[in-house]
Formats: sequence, structure tokens, C-alpha cells
Amino acid sequence: MRAFILFGPPGSGKGTQAKLLSSCLSVPHISTGDMLRERVRKANAGAGVADTMAAGELVSDELVNRMVEERLAEPDAREGFILDGYPRTVEQARYLLERLGKRGVGVVVIHLVVDYNVLIARITGRRECPRDGTLYNIYFRPPRVPGICDLDGTLLVARPDDTEAVVRERLEAYDRQSRPVLEWFEAQEIRPVTADADNLPPEALFERICRALKLTAPGTVLNR
Ligand code: AP5
Repeated sequence: MRAFILFGPPGSGKGTQAKLLSSCLSVPHISTGDMLRERVRKANAGAGVADTMAAGELVSDELVNRMVEERLAEPDAREGFILDGYPRTVEQARYLLERLGKRGVGVVVIHLVVDYNVLIARITGRRECPRDGTLYNIYFRPPRVPGICDLDGTLLVARPDDTEAVVRERLEAYDRQSRPVLEWFEAQEIRPVTADADNLPPEALFERICRALKLTAPGTVLNR
């Protein structure tokens, strides 16, 4: 059994790649961002969580660790799972690895590297179908009819934290709190598979990741 961790800054394509990997491997895609947004929607996220997310800051390790632990205990995660957006602090990484170690789960970290200017365009251009979760981008992957989901005709929406000002806060939080997780993984002898993710369309990048996961050892740098 293996845990796949999609790691990278906001807008690097974690969610996009996690969805592709999830349908290819038939294991669940677990996104802490989606879980938190769902809780905010149902008004059971806890005090201050919506404001913290709207400001582009990270919510508490305690809440996220608990949420993930509960999710990993569900039956569909028995054969493996894909984590998107978690862990993103050293404290979360330590917590996760301790638990996975006890269950004998192997860990594969896929690090998506994207230039910051590309990230900002990707995030501010992102649109999502609220019904089926399909992701579009007004610059890079527009729907056939502007503002409408190709698959079910639903009106597409933008995330409230996808404004340029909030994106800059999210990138700053990534540099300060999440980037050190990579060094921490290395110190645990978990060498991420690194993928240059700014020049390839999602499907081509996915193929490259799949090839690397099957054929090459972790620590490989893709697309260089
Ligand atoms: P979260 O939802 O995890 O957001 P994020 O990490 O900021 O990442 P994004 O969802 O913005 O981007 P992504 O990398 O998934 O890219 P995507 O595939 O969508 O977190 C939101 C908030 O929740 C956080 O700020 C925090 O407050 C809280 N939170 C969540 N987890 C937490 C945790 N563990 N601890 C504490 N707080 C937590 O793609 C982006 C766009 O680019 C799309 O339009 C897509 O179509 C396009 N695109 C993707 N790939 C390509 C490509 N190859 N080429 C061209 N366009 C592409």
C-alpha cells in the first residue's frame, strides 16, 4: 500500500494531477482544501476557519491533522490514497509519517515546480464546476462556452481566495511554512520526485509522472 503526496505551491496543479492519478490508480483523492471548503459551506469548520482561508493563511495543524486522520480511517483509503495539499507544515508531515509508519504505508512525494508568474495566472484564471468539480482556466483551459461547464452546463465559479492579493499571501505562506517540508522529507530519506510543471499540458505532465513512478527511482528530476 502506498500514499502519494502531491506537493507544490498554490496553482501548481496538485488538484489536477491528483484527479488524474486517482482515476488511474482507483484510490481516493483526498484534498484538505476541498474538505475545509466543504466544512465552511456546511458551517461546521469551526471558529475563524473561513476567515483564515479567505486571508490566504493556513488553518491550524490540529484541525487539519484530525480531519485527515478521520478520512484515512475510511474503508476506501485501505488500499492507498492521494493527498493533495497535505502535509504543508513540518508539524503535519511529522504527524502523518508517524501514523503511516505504524500502518506500514510507503510514501511517494511528487513535487510540482512552477514559476511564480505562471502560478498567479493559473490561479486568477481558475474556474470550477460546483457540481462535478471539473477545473477550467480562462487562459490555459477555457470551457467551450465561456463560464459554462462542458460536461453538465453548470455555471462555473471562481474561488473567493483566488484574487491576486490573496494569492500573494498564499504564496508567502507556502514559502514560509510549506517549502521547509521538502527539506524535512529529505532528512527522513524520502526523496521527492520533482516535475517541472509549468510548460506541459496536464495530460502530458501526468504521463510523465506515471512513467517516472513506474520506471525511475524517487529523486529523479522530470522534464529537464
Ligand atoms: P488548497 O485548496 O489546498 O489550495 P492550494 O494549495 O492553494 O492549491 P490550489 O487548489 O490553489 O492549486 P492546485 O495546486 O491544486 O492547482 P489546480 O490543479 O487547482 O487550500 C486552500 C486553503 O485551505 C489554504 O490557503 C489554507 O487556508 C487551507 N488549507 C488547505 N490545506 C491545508 C493544510 N494542510 N494545512 C493548513 N491549511 C490548509 O490548478 C490551478 C489552475 O491551473 C486550474 O485552473 C487548472 O486548470 C490549471 N492547470 C493545472 N495544471 C495545469 C497545466 N499543467 N497547465 C496549464 N494549466 C494548468
